[in-house]
Amino acid sequence: MGIGESIAAGLAEAGADLMLVSRRISENDEVVKACREAGRRVEVMQVDVANRAQVKEMVERTLAVLGRVDILFNNAGISKPAMLWNMTDEQWDDVISVNLKGTFNCIAEVAKPMMEQKSGSIINVTSSAGVLGTIGQVNYTAAKGGVLAMSRSCAKELAKYGVTVNTIAPMAETEMTKKIMTDPKIAPTYLARIPMGRFCKPDEIVPAVVFLCSDGSRYITGQLICIDGGMVMP
Ligand SMILES: NC(=O)c1ccc[n+]([C@@H]2O[C@H](COP(=O)([O-])OP(=O)(O)OC[C@H]3O[C@@H](n4cnc5c(N)ncnc54)[C@H](OP(=O)(O)O)[C@@H]3O)[C@@H](O)[C@H]2O)c1
Repeated sequence: MGIGESIAAGLAEAGADLMLVSRRISENDEVVKACREAGRRVEVMQVDVANRAQVKEMVERTLAVLGRVDILFNNAGISKPAMLWNMTDEQWDDVISVNLKGTFNCIAEVAKPMMEQKSGSIINVTSSAGVLGTIGQVNYTAAKGGVLAMSRSCAKELAKYGVTVNTIAPMAETEMTKKIMTDPKIAPTYLARIPMGRFCKPDEIVPAVVFLCSDGSRYITGQLICIDGGMVMP
């Protein structure tokens, strides 16, 4: 299960109706069933977040079927690793398009209705790589570093409209991180960097996100919360 799926299930449990989007999502996906079993209204739409027109349509449809947008969990991300000297234009452009421009597209379109209703919670997703740097992913680190910087600017621009913008840096076992967390040659190096000495499952990311979407966090904006067992202490 990916982080987005865990967050969707957690938000449904917490009482949110949902518009779930990704490039390949379908009505038959387990996450859709899980959110509906929680008793919430769940709509599904195939969207490429790198495409501004599709993102605009996503927000229009959300407003049409759900009535309002209170939360944006800006989760979509890809990685295409290569050492700096081997990285192709395509690897650079693809990762920047989805992780950085996709995050921008969603914030920009969702901000409009949130500004009108004078409330909203936007949660973006960066990475330890975007804060500390890493080896073999200059495209991903540039995108995720950009997500963090952009989130802080958006937090400042949107504060007077009652819209909070925060960022999480998770570290959880998913399809994206499977290799680094299971390969015996790589996993020990990663584990050694985590003071708590273990990897987590995506559902351990959920409570912090639910909090950032709740009234209890109304005075918290522009912050980075690292949910990574102490790996990054900014
Ligand atoms: N797992 C970690 O430890 C970790 C650490 C730091 C940061 N992150 C970040 O956390 C987020 C979730 O990652 P994950 O680990 O859960 O990875 P994942 O399981 O690979 O999930 C990535 C999700 O993004 C969607 N997606 C990819 N490209 C998209 C696009 N162009 N438009 C719309 N949706 C798109 C994918 O769905 P489709 O393929 O159907 O489009 C998938 O649902 C990512 O931003 C990742 O960079 C994860």
